[in-house]
Amino acid sequence: MEFLTEDLQQYVEDHSEPESDLLQQINRETHLHVLKPRMLSGHLQGRVLSMLSHMIKPKNILEIGTYTGYAALSMAEGMQSDGKLVTIDNNAELSIRTKEYFSKSNYANQLEMILGNALEVIPSLDKKWDLVFIDADKENYTNYFDLIIDQVNVGGFIIADNVLWSGKVFDETKSDKDTEAIRDFNHKMHTDSRIQNVLFPIRDGLMILRKL
Ligand SMILES: C[S@@+](CC[C@H](N)C(=O)[O-])C[C@H]1O[C@@H](n2cnc3c(N)ncnc32)[C@H](O)[C@@H]1O
Repeated sequence: MEFLTEDLQQYVEDHSEPESDLLQQINRETHLHVLKPRMLSGHLQGRVLSMLSHMIKPKNILEIGTYTGYAALSMAEGMQSDGKLVTIDNNAELSIRTKEYFSKSNYANQLEMILGNALEVIPSLDKKWDLVFIDADKENYTNYFDLIIDQVNVGGFIIADNVLWSGKVFDETKSDKDTEAIRDFNHKMHTDSRIQNVLFPIRDGLMILRKL
């Protein structure tokens, strides 16, 4: 399901900052050579993540679900000059391509990619986060939130992708595992007193959370 018409999407992208050459390359090559290219954040969402990161000015960023590194590199644009971005993915095959992109970027020395199951990796990370991007397997969104909330600085942000799940979350005929997991996550985020939340209807839905 596309939330914006093609014309509107084009107009919005034409009037937003263009992608860098590297992001454009990642976008193109992911669509040509990698399975499920829709997983990549893309031009508009990438610019939104960059803008939010510039507003937050994070020192430490955690991403759960790297894929080909598009969102990681977009968020890295706004981190502090001595900042660090840690990103986790369990797909070893993809990581070869992603590491090449990272090494070509302006942030090569500030990016750390950890291979493994995020549920196991996160508890081993001894850091406080200013910005966390949740974008891995949908059934674990709530688990990821539970694992990181105490490690997020007060005033820090968590952003979760795909919370509209192509519109299935508000379609009562849909009750598959991932849809139910996102519904539960959205409900919890809306009622958890530790955070302020707003659901941005950008692309497939971004849940933006600020830790109180
Ligand atoms: C939607 S893609 C991430 C897209 C990326 N954040 C972007 O916007 O360009 C989801 C990624 O999560 C990874 N993933 C899924 N389950 C995972 C898990 N349990 N632990 C770590 N990574 C996982 C997949 O291998 C995939 O690369």
